[in-house]
Amino acid sequence: MFGKDTLSNKSILVTGGSSGLGFSMAKRFAELGAKVAICGRNPEKLEKAASELSETKANILTHQVDVRDYEAVGIMIERLVEEFGELNGLVNNAAGNFLCATEDLSPNGFKSVVDIVLHGTFNCTHHFGKYLIDSGNTGNILNIITTYAESGCAFVMPSACAKAGVLAMSKSLAFEWATYGIRVNAIAPGPFPTKGAWTRLVPDPEFEKKFMRRIPAGRFGEHIELANLAVFLMSDLSPYVTGECVTIDGGERLQAGQFNYIAELAPRQEVREFLKKMRPAKE
Ligand code: COA
Repeated sequence: MFGKDTLSNKSILVTGGSSGLGFSMAKRFAELGAKVAICGRNPEKLEKAASELSETKANILTHQVDVRDYEAVGIMIERLVEEFGELNGLVNNAAGNFLCATEDLSPNGFKSVVDIVLHGTFNCTHHFGKYLIDSGNTGNILNIITTYAESGCAFVMPSACAKAGVLAMSKSLAFEWATYGIRVNAIAPGPFPTKGAWTRLVPDPEFEKKFMRRIPAGRFGEHIELANLAVFLMSDLSPYVTGECVTIDGGERLQAGQFNYIAELAPRQEVREFLKKMRPAKE
């Protein structure tokens, strides 16, 4: 589906691109010909990521920034435009999250997550969108949210609130900015193991086992699967797709089905035999 030049006309900023899924997307974009910028708070992590990305021979830039800082984000966008000549893609991937019972959460804990996820996405999107509109260029925004943006989720309430806000932002701007040739889409990943997410959210092998049982596909996601979806949405292969949120989760979000628990009762062959026995005999 993709050629080496699928993204050769793209210059894309991936926030939080020095590790995890952000890095995997940045790497895939670079392999497929894009100029890629990654930003993050930690300069050592940025440099390490940049040296790995440079193996693709792509044009790579790094920028140290905290996406919570509106002015600093503006300076970053200006610099990237100057150095790349233009910027036509933004992936809002930077996030903050931790497990916490809400009754034990401090106001500042709530604020930190919402500031990074919701305000950070606004800050990058606002500067990038204004640059595109003022320069008359078209562009593409991709927001990495989560499957629980729609359902809500216990023990990660600030993240659920913030990601729900980002989903609303995606749909609002997809309509509002379509007239400028700006597409805005989202990806809702289910469980994709990353060091950052796993140490914070899956801190124990028992958690991991239980987590795995929730996934009908029977496995966690692979980074390349998500990265390829991101390529599709960031490329000219999807010019008419906007305001969409694509879920990629091996069916995990479908847990709500009322009779899904039957799949847990016994191995599948036994379940089938049991259900067959329940059929009324033909007259
Ligand atoms: N449980 C409860 N509260 C927590 C917490 C936890 N596990 N981790 C942090 N907090 C609270 C802190 O206590 C603090 O509140 P307080 O001032 O009332 O004590 C508040 O959150 C901010 O913490 P701090 O470490 O000062 O913030 P930060 O801006 O440096 O970091 C976080 C932001 C907390 C989101 C941090 O986890 C982070 O930097 N995450 C980035 C990476 C990430 O989470 N990626 C997502 C992977 S899924």
